[in-house]
Amino acid sequence: MAAHPRVVVFGGTGHFGARICRRLAKEPGLELVVTSRSLARADSLVSEIHDDGGLATVTSAVVDQNAGDLASQLKNLKPTVVIHTAGPYQGQDYRVAKACIVAGCHYVDLADGRQFVAGFDVLDAEAKAADVVLISGASTLPGVSSAVVDEIRGRFQNIERIETSIAPAHQTPRGLGTVRAVLSYCGAPFDTWCEGGWRTVHGWQDLRWQRYPSLGRRLSGACDVPDLALFPDYVRGVRTVSFHAALEAPWEQLGLWAMAWLTRAGMVRDWTKLAPRFSAMSKRLIRFGSIRGGMQLRIEGTGLDGKARTCHWHLVAEQNHGPEIPCTPAIVVAKQLLEGKLSKSGAYPCLGLFTVAEFMQDLSGFDVSVRLVEGG
Ligand SMILES: NC(=O)c1ccc[n+]([C@@H]2O[C@H](COP(=O)([O-])OP(=O)(O)OC[C@H]3O[C@@H](n4cnc5c(N)ncnc54)[C@H](OP(=O)(O)O)[C@@H]3O)[C@@H](O)[C@H]2O)c1
Repeated sequence: MAAHPRVVVFGGTGHFGARICRRLAKEPGLELVVTSRSLARADSLVSEIHDDGGLATVTSAVVDQNAGDLASQLKNLKPTVVIHTAGPYQGQDYRVAKACIVAGCHYVDLADGRQFVAGFDVLDAEAKAADVVLISGASTLPGVSSAVVDEIRGRFQNIERIETSIAPAHQTPRGLGTVRAVLSYCGAPFDTWCEGGWRTVHGWQDLRWQRYPSLGRRLSGACDVPDLALFPDYVRGVRTVSFHAALEAPWEQLGLWAMAWLTRAGMVRDWTKLAPRFSAMSKRLIRFGSIRGGMQLRIEGTGLDGKARTCHWHLVAEQNHGPEIPCTPAIVVAKQLLEGKLSKSGAYPCLGLFTVAEFMQDLSGFDVSVRLVEGG
């Protein structure tokens, strides 16, 4: 690790940001800066962490990513790595990453905005010139999904189909940034790679059932995520890439499907304005569901023996530990940067930067398990 490694967490009081801060605070020798637009909110988390006996040195700072002097504010904080969790990234520009280039520090984000992550390499030349590493999408998608693909791809001559789905537990609290993100593409058209060509689907439509070994059957809808743009290049020869989110409550899933129709009919243009109301409503209804969530990738293709092969990778998170999943890639990648293990300067998406074993190792202490089933 660098002499005085310092991690600055943007959006440190958020749903995922606070979890990342609590976990990084357990790292001895680390200096952690929790940022918020409100000093009171940041201080409150810092005291909670101090009360829990964190091993890192933890302080707070006020930062608004819309500030005109963001780069100099960042420079004053002297970060080694910035973790940017202040989504939604859909529609956001690269100002935080650009400020990191100016400040000469590394950058990691949790972005799930398809254009945001797929277009991130536009910063590559500037990042290389500044000798910094900028990573986008260090989260479930495409961080964990690409690690799973890499673990499994050696079993195939060629992969033809990758179907990913996530089934969050109903009782998992949802941050406003995530609610805004999932509403941003409700009813919006986007392209998915289907049977070797691009096909248009609409956000939260393309309804289909998913069967999860530990969760049972869940209705799911299509979401616009970075993997849909990245995997057709990342996995040469793949003919179909899909992603669906399977909410636990079918009425929630059907509600989003109906809202998508209202958008398609031109009756509602932008649902994100109602995100605070949806967030409040989901808090009131939170008790009507379980604390168990999951994720799965179904990968089909031709095995090494030339025969059709299917691999089914499952993750189950018990006790409401699901929200630790999107946080873990950012933590793993930030640690790699601090330890100098990720030294290829430039700006790129989080594809294949860690293994499933490394991901699971950082999750030890949480009730999360994974399983690979052949032919499942
Ligand atoms: N790629 C993936 O697989 C994946 C998975 C899950 C989530 N995500 C993404 O992760 C993001 C974070 O989600 P979340 O649920 O944690 O959101 P959240 O709870 O709303 O947290 C975001 C935090 O950012 C801070 N913030 C907002 N505007 C800011 C600004 N202008 N400048 C600085 N800070 C600002 C806010 O803190 P203050 O109000 O205290 O400033 C807020 O608490 C979302 O965009 C979500 O889509 C990605």
